[in-house]
Parts: sequence; C-alpha cells; structure tokens
Amino acid sequence: MTPDGARRRGTRPARPALHPHPHKTWPEFTLQLRDGTRLSVPPNRSALDVLLDARPRTPFSCRQGFCGTCRIQVGAGTPEHHDLCLTPAERAAGAMLPCVARRHGDTA
Ligand code: FES
Repeated sequence: MTPDGARRRGTRPARPALHPHPHKTWPEFTLQLRDGTRLSVPPNRSALDVLLDARPRTPFSCRQGFCGTCRIQVGAGTPEHHDLCLTPAERAAGAMLPCVARRHGDTA
C-alpha cells in the first residue's frame, strides 16, 4: 500500500498472521527429544525454531499451524494447541504442531 491507501502494482498486502505470536508472553518450556536431548523454548521463540536450531532438517512449511508438516508426537505434558490443522482425535493421540503450539508446564 502507498501512504494514500492505494495498492502498488505488482505487490500483495502482507498476509496477516493468524496467531500473532501466541507464544510471546508464554512461559519457557522444555522439549525433550527421543535421544534425550533437552531443548529450552524461550517465551519469544516457537518450538519449531528451537527444533530447527538443533535439527536443521526438521520438516516445516507454513509456520502458522495450517499445513501439519511440522507435526511431532508429544511424549509427556499437555500442549496448548494454536493450529487449524489437527483434529481433536489427533490432539488426543498426542500430536502437536511446534510452529504454533506451546506448553504451560515444564516439558512437552
Ligand atoms: S509448519 Fe505448517 S503446521 Fe507447522
């Protein structure tokens, strides 16, 4: 958009974030991987970003909870879901999308 509100040719408006930083003010938590590695997820980062630091080949796509590509299995703890992808049955079975999910407890 230009300052007068007109759209510039060839540009698209920025896609609004569906979940504008749902983790921003949330408590830090720990991800424990199958190999025992423990990763601390600070309030200002997503679990996916922390996973990517440790495991750069972690699959992902949208980073907004739409596609399900980043899906992981929760071993312990209860995730706070913020996605639009997982069904209630998948959530009940322990699936989590680390790009948008948070954990209120200590370990997810
Ligand atoms: S990257 Fe698409 S749901 Fe996480």
